[in-house]
Amino acid sequence: MKDYESILSKLKKYGQEDVLRFYGELSADDREQLLCDVESLDLDEIAKLYHLADVPAENKFDESELSPIDVIKAPVPGDSEYKTYYEKGIEVLRSGKVIAVTMAGGEGSRLGHNGPKGTYDPKIPGHGSLFEIQLEGLRSIHAQCGSFVHWYIMTGESNHAKTVEYFEENAYFGYPRDKVTFFKQGVLPVLDLEGKLLLEEKNKILKAPDGNGGIFRALLDNKILETGDAADAGYVFVCGIDNCLVKMCDPVFVGAIALTGRACLTKTFMKRSPEEKAGIYCLRNGRPLVIEYTEISAHMAAETNADGTYKYGDANVLNYIFDINRLREALSVRLPYHIALKKVKRLDGAGNPLKSEVPDCRKYEMFMFDIFNEMGDTAAFRIVRDEEFAPVKNAEGIDSAQTARELFMRQNRIEMENPIVEIDGDEMTRIVWEKIKEIVLEPYVKLNTEYYDLSVQNRDATDDTVTVKAAEAIKKHKVAVKCATITPNAKRVEEFGLKKMWKSPNATIRGILDGTVFRTPIIVDGISPVVRTWEKPITIARHAYGDIYSAVETRAAKGDEVFLTVKSKDGGSRELLLHTFADSDGIVMGMHNEDDSVESFARTCFGYALSEGLDLWFSAKDTISKTYDHRFKDVFAEIYENEFREAFEEKGITYFYTLVDDAVSRVMKSKGGFVWACKNYDGDVFSDMLASAFGSLSMMTSVLVSPDGCFEYEAAHGTIPRHYHKYLNGEKTSTNPTATLFAWTGALAKKGMMDGNAALADFSQRVENALYRTISEGFMTGDLALITEKENPVTLGLEEFLEAVRDRIFL
Ligand code: UTP
Repeated sequence: MKDYESILSKLKKYGQEDVLRFYGELSADDREQLLCDVESLDLDEIAKLYHLADVPAENKFDESELSPIDVIKAPVPGDSEYKTYYEKGIEVLRSGKVIAVTMAGGEGSRLGHNGPKGTYDPKIPGHGSLFEIQLEGLRSIHAQCGSFVHWYIMTGESNHAKTVEYFEENAYFGYPRDKVTFFKQGVLPVLDLEGKLLLEEKNKILKAPDGNGGIFRALLDNKILETGDAADAGYVFVCGIDNCLVKMCDPVFVGAIALTGRACLTKTFMKRSPEEKAGIYCLRNGRPLVIEYTEISAHMAAETNADGTYKYGDANVLNYIFDINRLREALSVRLPYHIALKKVKRLDGAGNPLKSEVPDCRKYEMFMFDIFNEMGDTAAFRIVRDEEFAPVKNAEGIDSAQTARELFMRQNRIEMENPIVEIDGDEMTRIVWEKIKEIVLEPYVKLNTEYYDLSVQNRDATDDTVTVKAAEAIKKHKVAVKCATITPNAKRVEEFGLKKMWKSPNATIRGILDGTVFRTPIIVDGISPVVRTWEKPITIARHAYGDIYSAVETRAAKGDEVFLTVKSKDGGSRELLLHTFADSDGIVMGMHNEDDSVESFARTCFGYALSEGLDLWFSAKDTISKTYDHRFKDVFAEIYENEFREAFEEKGITYFYTLVDDAVSRVMKSKGGFVWACKNYDGDVFSDMLASAFGSLSMMTSVLVSPDGCFEYEAAHGTIPRHYHKYLNGEKTSTNPTATLFAWTGALAKKGMMDGNAALADFSQRVENALYRTISEGFMTGDLALITEKENPVTLGLEEFLEAVRDRIFL
């Protein structure tokens, strides 16, 4: 039992007795707890803390005392020292001479995450929480050197239990348990503006972690450096928890300290401008310290070295490596306290929770970098900022998960194990192609493509063999993305001086793949379909073989009799009278289709509907065309019964055949959300009708699917020559890249799915969502701005629109 009276009189001596104001209402246990809490306080030190604010700031120095800090420029692969540092670092790491300490004891108040900051998931595709990101780094070190680094995690009073629980629940994410140690940092009481202690609960004094500089006292008090792996180590790697790009135990950094023999190296980056807010390193009377740029004159802040860097521009990354013996010597040094005015939740006089609107509490913190004043012999190890610095401090805006994701993804671009086939094309879409890659894809994905140039010029130069090669590549790699291409007519032959009127590349590729084209409109907020009932996209599947597209036709003269002759292999023949042109000249046509092709078409349609979970409709005119169209109907029915009925029923989707005229009227009254399989000509006509009715052809995607599982994605539209001519004249265009962008995302998502590459699939989905969001926020290209129902849409140029999409990928 604590002695209430003596504790009260001690408090009175310092004018702090108010913390016992609820003592009378407390249970016996709570009273005991409160008295223990009070007893643990050093009231004398608290009084001194309060008077700190009265002491004139010590860092008002004379500029003549300052000089730039020594800088080691972090070598990059290719530099001569890189290999030396790296290899030395790996050698040291392999021998178990490095321990890692993460400072995770902060309250993360700006982030506002419910739980320890390290458990926060910044939602970087393919990665987990901040703790998991650091573990990945440590695992990578193990992969490089074969040893597990011992990881010490500094927690705070308020997040210690939850941190340990998190690791326990997740079985230490597969890292050896005996290589992870938690230790707690100290706390300091929070004071009000009069220097009074505050209450967090009626039985608990309000305290806060003693700052990242508390690490030294915590290492000392917990005897961390004296026991276990630390006792034998030579170097201590220290970092914060909230930098997503931290290179855990960076071997080059380790090698650098081992080879330079410094007491400490501290990672820094060069400020972008002298005014940029960031603490910077320098020397004061030869001892390292960190100052604010506001503490030196504008002239001094802007002083540059011969290479254009600022003499006083090395900003603190909060990432260090210490020689462990030099650190041991410095541990017992008392670091100065820094005061921060904050808004803090506490109890008011009546015991109700109170958080004021203005900062009115004093928090006391020690800063890690103050140790350097004691240690000396510290050099800045200057890294490239965007490669290693992606802090998560705030819930949104600057230094938030969003900015960190963006930086992280740029540094850790998604890999593609297997290539997709990239088929380049013509005119404006070729420009759109290049911009999509440059602005939206390549910053985040290491595109792995097998490239074919199907520009009309190259098709001509290669006698169109390049198209055949591209088609064969699709068969090999299964997934392709194709840019729109010119199908030359007489005018185009003349325009480009072509050897001949080359066939449509799409027709060639379709023929080789025996594929079916599925076209789906992209429905966006603010552009409603013309047909009021349509809520979901209608995907149209066109049988892209035979019928009138490979028909034989001729003119007939008055008096001609036209027959259809079928000669059998065995020599027999049949002759059917087509028409007798008794009274007039005329025209005739003979067309065909093949069972194999119709069967492939049917199978591909059923397979696609199944994979997308959509009903399948098929339409023809079997009542009139009792053999030709009837054959289509029968083939679909047989394949459905024999191969797909069960799977369709299991998935809860249906197959439905109807006459093409009936299909048209039903489509007009439907809500959408199904696949409509059409014969070649029907598909040709209806797909353009659907595109216009849904908004615009620029919003129509197209995928060619073969029965053996090849996918070629492209935009449904052409090469947009009108915009191309403007572009060639140096004019800005507002070309809509949506369908081409979705061709890329479709192909990347499919490849991601096939290869089990979740990051790639996730990224593709994010890009599509970013596009929806961009348009939904009212930013669009000119063609959409003309038809949108949104008020005051903002029309963007091609590049600006792609940049707007890019800026929303990681929102
Ligand atoms: P910050 O200074 O950004 O503080 O910490 P914070 O607690 O994360 O966030 P705010 O200021 O409350 O919003 C930088 C690093 O130092 C650690 C943090 O966990 C982070 O890794 N830190 C900070 C501690 O370990 N202890 C402290 O007392 C303060």
